[in-house]
Amino acid sequence: MAEPTNRQDRAKKQAAEAAIEFIQPGMIVGVGTGSTVNYFIDALANIKQEIEGAVSSSEASTQRLKDHGIPVYDLNGVGALQVYVDGADEITSQLHMIKGGGAALTREKIVAAVAETFICITDDSKQVEMLGDFPLPVEVIPMARSYVAREIVKLGGDPVYRDGVVTDNGNVILDVYNLHIDNPIELENKLNQITGVVTNGLFAARGADIALISNGDTLTTLH
Ligand code: 5RP
Repeated sequence: MAEPTNRQDRAKKQAAEAAIEFIQPGMIVGVGTGSTVNYFIDALANIKQEIEGAVSSSEASTQRLKDHGIPVYDLNGVGALQVYVDGADEITSQLHMIKGGGAALTREKIVAAVAETFICITDDSKQVEMLGDFPLPVEVIPMARSYVAREIVKLGGDPVYRDGVVTDNGNVILDVYNLHIDNPIELENKLNQITGVVTNGLFAARGADIALISNGDTLTTLH
């Protein structure tokens, strides 16, 4: 990947490279999705002889891992996963997150559920006091789209269909605006109760364990 030319990309790269410290020899590494994770994958390639391989959360990350010659394993064949490294669209000091800007939220949540330690890598623009300025992505079975949208309106949100996007699982995304997310775990559970919802982008019930947050010069670690 080209050297970053702006502060935000420098920050993403610094946070991503800091996560390499958590990778032990022989590990199968859980790998997220997005531009920050792309820096992580590139850094992982430098130590690829030391690791066994990766489990991936998207077709895009799988392709990038394979392009670097890093073996990608099916999650079903991997018993335990020590570490999962992924970015976020928003993160609080409680390490609750909104994810899914890249539409990979369902596989991300599955790999995160298996991992012992979730390491979130971000630039500091993603750090917020309260979640919700970033529209909350919800992955939905296509035939349930209108029904789910009506139910989300009842919860106070304004869902917008992400036109033209089909997830790796063949589903669609509703981006939900104007939610007041003062209790992320409760809202995460409520949204999951709506029939037709596959996953929502609140990662609160299982948040991150460690956040590596960079402003481009300085790295801050939260846990
Ligand atoms: C993809 C995600 C990403 O982690 C999130 O969108 C952050 O991406 P980026 O690192 O490009 O800012 O959840 O579904």
